Parts: sequence; C-alpha cells; structure tokens
Amino acid sequence: MFVAPSFPHEPGGPAPYFRGEFTADRQPDQALLEVTGLGIVEPYLNGIRVGDEVLAPGWTSYRHRLQVSTHDVTALIKPGANALGAIVGDGWAAGRIGFEGKNNHYTDRPALFMRLEMTLGEQTVVVESDGTWSAGTGAIIANGLFDGETYDARREPYGWSQPGFTGDWSAVEPFDWNPEALVPVVADPIRRIEELSPVSIRGKIVDFGQNLTGWIKLTTTGETGQTITIRHAELLEDGELNVETLRTVRATDRYIHAGGTVTWEPRFTFHGFRYVEIDGPFDEVKAVVVHSDMRRTGWLKTSDERLNRLHANTVWSMRGNFVGVPTDCPQRDERLGWTGDINAFAPTAAFLYDVRPVLGSWLADLAAEQRERGFVPWVVPDVLSNPSAPTALWSDVAVSLPWVLYQEYGDAEILRRCYGSMAAFIRDVEGRLDADGLWSSGFQFGDWLDPDAPGDNPAGAKTDRHLVAAAYLAKTTREMADTAELLNTEDAAHFRALADKVRQAFRAEYVTAKGRIAGETATAYALAICFDLLDPDQEARAGRRLAELVAKAGYKISTGFAGTPLMLPALSRTGHLEAAYLMLMEPGCPSFLYPVTMGATTIWERWDAIAPDGTLNPSGMSSLNHYALGAVTDWLHKTVGGLTPLEPGYRKVLIAPQPGGGLTNAALTHWTVHGDIRISWRVEGRQVRLEVSVPVEATVRLPYTGETIEVQLGEHAWSYELPEEYGEREPYTMDTSLKTLAADPTVWQALTEVFAKHFPSIPLDGNAPEAAAFSLNTVLEFIPGPSQELADDLKAAIQ
Ligand code: BGC
Repeated sequence: MFVAPSFPHEPGGPAPYFRGEFTADRQPDQALLEVTGLGIVEPYLNGIRVGDEVLAPGWTSYRHRLQVSTHDVTALIKPGANALGAIVGDGWAAGRIGFEGKNNHYTDRPALFMRLEMTLGEQTVVVESDGTWSAGTGAIIANGLFDGETYDARREPYGWSQPGFTGDWSAVEPFDWNPEALVPVVADPIRRIEELSPVSIRGKIVDFGQNLTGWIKLTTTGETGQTITIRHAELLEDGELNVETLRTVRATDRYIHAGGTVTWEPRFTFHGFRYVEIDGPFDEVKAVVVHSDMRRTGWLKTSDERLNRLHANTVWSMRGNFVGVPTDCPQRDERLGWTGDINAFAPTAAFLYDVRPVLGSWLADLAAEQRERGFVPWVVPDVLSNPSAPTALWSDVAVSLPWVLYQEYGDAEILRRCYGSMAAFIRDVEGRLDADGLWSSGFQFGDWLDPDAPGDNPAGAKTDRHLVAAAYLAKTTREMADTAELLNTEDAAHFRALADKVRQAFRAEYVTAKGRIAGETATAYALAICFDLLDPDQEARAGRRLAELVAKAGYKISTGFAGTPLMLPALSRTGHLEAAYLMLMEPGCPSFLYPVTMGATTIWERWDAIAPDGTLNPSGMSSLNHYALGAVTDWLHKTVGGLTPLEPGYRKVLIAPQPGGGLTNAALTHWTVHGDIRISWRVEGRQVRLEVSVPVEATVRLPYTGETIEVQLGEHAWSYELPEEYGEREPYTMDTSLKTLAADPTVWQALTEVFAKHFPSIPLDGNAPEAAAFSLNTVLEFIPGPSQELADDLKAAIQ
C-alpha cells in the first residue's frame, strides 16, 4: 500500500525517509522489489541503494499512470532481519513545476509504495510498505526540482535503512492512490549518463564548456557546519552568473559539512546549466549529465565544423529536455511537456534516438488526459490552471506525433493505440470550423516567436495565425485520413472528405490562382509548399517567391516556430537548393549558425536569444536550451546526409545527398528497425565518391549528376568525375549584367551585403527591368564620386 508521513510537509522542505523491517527465513530463490511513489523515490535495502535509476518514477500523468520500477534484489536479502527504506523527494508530484508558481500539483506530501515479492521454493512471501512502517527526516533538509537541494551531513540518520535502527521516527499513514494507475515502466529510466570535467575554474566560477541538464558532483574537505553553496546558470556576464534565463528558479544546492572529505551530489533536483558558482571549499567538481537513458540511433558529420556544432547543439538540447518527459526547457520555471515543441522537433528526435519508450509513454498520458478533460492540453502532463483550447502545431501533436513515429518505426500498432486520441482531436476541431471549412476562430499560438513580433507579444507574428491554423489542419486531417485508411476504420471516408475540404478551404481563402499566398510571408509560403497545398505550377511560383523573400531578408531568419523548420525543406523541394544553403550557412543574427558563432552549445529558444553585443534578449523567452528550433536538423539528415524513408520504418529508402554550401563531405549513420544505414560522400578535386550501406532496397540518386539507381541491400560505392557544368564558370566582371549576377545566389548575397554596407537605404534589385542591361560598372556611374573601397568591395563580392 501507499504510505505517507504523519508529520506535516512543507513544499520544498525536508524529504521524508521511510523504513520497514521484515524477516526472511532463508535466502530467497528470487526477490523482486517494486517501487514507486508520489515524489522522487530513492530506494534502499539493508543500507544499499537499489538500482541505478535517478528521479524515479519520472513524471507522468500520475492520476492515470504512475510507473512502477521493478528491481531484482535477490542478492541483497539476508536470512534473518532485513530492512527496506526509501527517501522521497518532492519532485513533480509535491513540488513546484510550471510557470504559475504552484506546488503540490498531485499531492500535499510525498508518498511511497514498495512491494517485495520473495520466492522461496513453492512459497511466495510478500512484504509491502504498510502501517508498520515509520518515517522521519534526515540530511535532506530542503529539496525541489527548481530551487535545489540542501543536504546537512550532520543530520544523516546513519543506519536508517538497515535492520535494528532506532531513530525517533513516527508511524506512517496510509495514503490513498488509485491502484489502477500503477503501470509498469514504459519510458526509459532516467540515469546519470556521463560526467564532464570543467574546462575552466576562475575563482568561484566553474565552466563545464557545455550547457547540460543534471547536477554537480563535488568532493569537498571541510569543518563541521561549513556550508558550500552551489548556484547554477546558463550564462556568464562580466565573469558572474547571469540567472535571468532561469526566471524565478533558484537552482541553488547546499552541502553542510559534518567534517572530513566527502564526495556528494544532490538527488532530488536537476538544473539546466553550463556554469556554477561554488561558494565554499572544494577539491574536485564534475557535472553529471542526467536524462532518459535512450538508445542513440542517428549521427551526422560534415566537412563544416560550424554545422557539426549545430548538429551537436541539437543533440545536447534533446538530451537536456528528455528527462522523462519531452520538455520545452530544463532550466527556467516551466520544464513542461509543451506539445508544440515536441511536435516541431519529433522527426529530428526520432532520427537521433529511439524515442518509442519516452514518447510512447507521453502519448499514453496525452490520451488519458484528453479523455478525462475533453481536450488535448497544451502541456502534457497538464498542470495549467486553465483549460487549453485546441491549437495548431501544439494540440495537433495528438495526430502528428503518432504519424511521425509510424514513419520512423513502421509499426502500425502505434497508430492503432493512438487512434481514439487522434480522431477525437480532429473531430473537436471539425466542430469549430466556419462555414467555409476554415479554422478561423479561437486562440492560436500561430508562428510563435517570429523574430519580428513585439517582445511582449510572442504570438504577434507577421503571418496570420488562422492561415497557420488552416495549413496545419490540412496536414493533420490528411495524416488522419491516411491513418484511418491504413487501419481500415469505418470513418476513413469521412476523414478523407474532411481533409479534402480543409485543403480546398485553405486554397480558396489564401492562395491566388497563380500561387501567391496571402500575407506574402516566408512562413505562409513554406507551409503551403511543404503541406502539399498547391498545384505544381503554383508550387513552382511559390518557391520562387519564397526564394525572393529569403534573399530579401538577407538569408536571415524571419519566421517562428511554425515556419522555421519548413524553410529549408520548402526551398530545396522547389529547386532552390542554393538559397537553402545560403540560409543554412548565414552567420548573421538571427540565423541557424549565428548562435554557433556566439559559442552556443545547445539550441536556443530564439535564434536571437543573445545579441551580437552579448546582451540577453529581454523578452523573458530567451532560454538557451530549447530543442524546438533544432527541427532544422531534420533537413540536414535528409539533404546533407541524404537519407529519406520512402516507406514507413525505412523499409525502402531514398539516398540522395545534395551537396552545397561549400561542403566537401558528409557521413550519416542511422539505426533503423531493419538495421543500420550508412551514407558517406566526398568531393576531392573533381572526384566524387559516394558510399552506401543499406539493410533494405534503396533508390540512390547520385550527387551532382542526379543519375538514379535502384540497389539491393548491401554495400555499394560510386566514384565519378564532377560533371562539366560544375566546372569553373566564366569569371564575373564589372561588366557582367546584374541579371546574371542576381541568378547566382552566393554572389548576389555578397553584393547585397556590400550595398547594405555602403548604401543602407538603397536595395539592390536584380529583378528590375533594367537589370539585364545594367552591370556593376553602370551602377558605379550613377554614384557620385564612388569610393575606391566600394569598387574594391564589389570586385571582391563577384570573385
Ligand atoms: C514555452 C514554449 C511553448 C510556449 C507556448 C513557452 O513558454 O517555453 O516553448 O511552446 O510557451 O506558448
């Protein structure tokens, strides 16, 4: 049964210690210990810590699903007296979580469930936490996920989880929890994955060189009563911690000495940090990286170190935000399972790690809460005070995430399991459509965090939020219809008709006959292109228009959560590969590589979270560890690495690396359910080489030549000369027409920069009617007294 302490509990206060004794007649043949609780449970048996999970049982929708870990403890049981024990921290159940400042989302105090089942020959003996157990407090005098942990070593109740302990502890109380909610562990356990050493220690400030999620492990020598205070932050400013990105989170751990030399780490908190400030004596410090212990399944390396860093930043942000639940960020006062963030990031996540356990568990929570509440919450598990309205890109994760998992693993069971939830979401939105079939009313986050939106209104994007909603609905109703047809359900025809109606409604409202899209924003074009909302002619036109818009924005990012992941796919799909690479390689603020140039080691919530002068964006939405925008990495896998599934689960694949951006090689590895896929390509001088290893049939499209070859499973390689058109082009001169220069995005971008530098208010227009007749020399003639510097800059730009 569940037990709780009978003494009062303060949120963030001391963690209760629990213990109970039992006798074993002899060494059992097998002993299995089931453990869970409301809070974070650290189990012990006869003074020994059981298992290697931390932060167990993780965070789920506890009222519906509370995961129970099972440990084989056969070797720890002794004939005679034995003792079971556990320390239970506040965690997600009793502590503070979310931005509303609230504690006790699930319980007013931590509670424990332990059940030991011993097999002795024919006999089964069960020992459970019950009214005979007692509880007290000990060394953990304060604990909270947000604010940190205080450990007073002087109060360690030595021997508390061994038989014969005689502390002044009180009896426990039975605690009521729905036994039906107990489920076996689905998500991978959270573990200590690795330890990092500092890259520098300056005075009290320690830099681990990497923004990460976890805590520190400290070796310290001190006098009794001496306190070491450890504060965490993502950022340094003038050599001091800048804790602005934490908002109200205190992220402060304390160790109070009982004297001597000890190695200590906290257990009931976690922090998102790169830097710590340690006030007090220490001999050694390490950062412990903590997350769900998932299997890594995807890798990409290229010839460009900046891109490699961007990729590594995505991996680190995923690691930092997969601590049981897929969260927005690990450091500030949110750490919530924001639906939109994982919706944007899911294809990338599924490439990098096997996410079936963590996201499968999370989808089960989503469905349970949706059933109970009648809507898909914006955050899962839902701890928000107000009900969530259905919202594009956020709530529709109910449909798109199962669909992504089906594409990645080819397992229709995932869709079958989620079908009720998917269909309920679509039917809810269907009931809200206007007479034209548009999702034109109600709250929408829209193109959240558009860099041009006002700082105090992150939803105030350039792109009409109902256009965004209608486009996403066209995508999700199609996924729904495809799912229904695949599973052969009776509502398949209904969902297909709905998908067609919604697509038609989008086209009628927002697309001109020739392919212009209302609002003329990059996000609107990218959505229409990527979600198949256009006819082929319209799509080609939209692609050209999008390429113009990104050129006009100087290849910088002008889009938010909804549009940004689709920019490169929309450009490359419509034949504007060079523009896509210009955008990818652009280092100015805000751009994909800009954070890398600023030393970022994770993906930021916004590309301009830190300004070029080093100041933090003051909007309050400037986390330095948000995986959502790492969604761009999916394009790297498909286009630079060259791997796209042609059938769910990679049962058949397209291998088509599309080099560009000055890259000279790339190597991708992906574990799939059919086996490992490896692709590597390299250009050396005029020699191209592609090597492929596939466990399935593949269509290979050779880089540069576009030649298509069907191959069987096995290893394959091609070596060939770069085709002539990739030879040296005729050098551009000051007499080359502007029209020709404008057709070369790389040169045109360089020229635009020269113009922006010398004539900030005069745009250079390569599409003007006179562009064919004008050259840079004619332009210079118009400029009164052109400087030598201008002429030199222009010459340099066309090299
Ligand atoms: C979170 C986001 C989330 C958004 C939605 C933010 O505070 O950090 O990533 O999707 O709110 O409104």
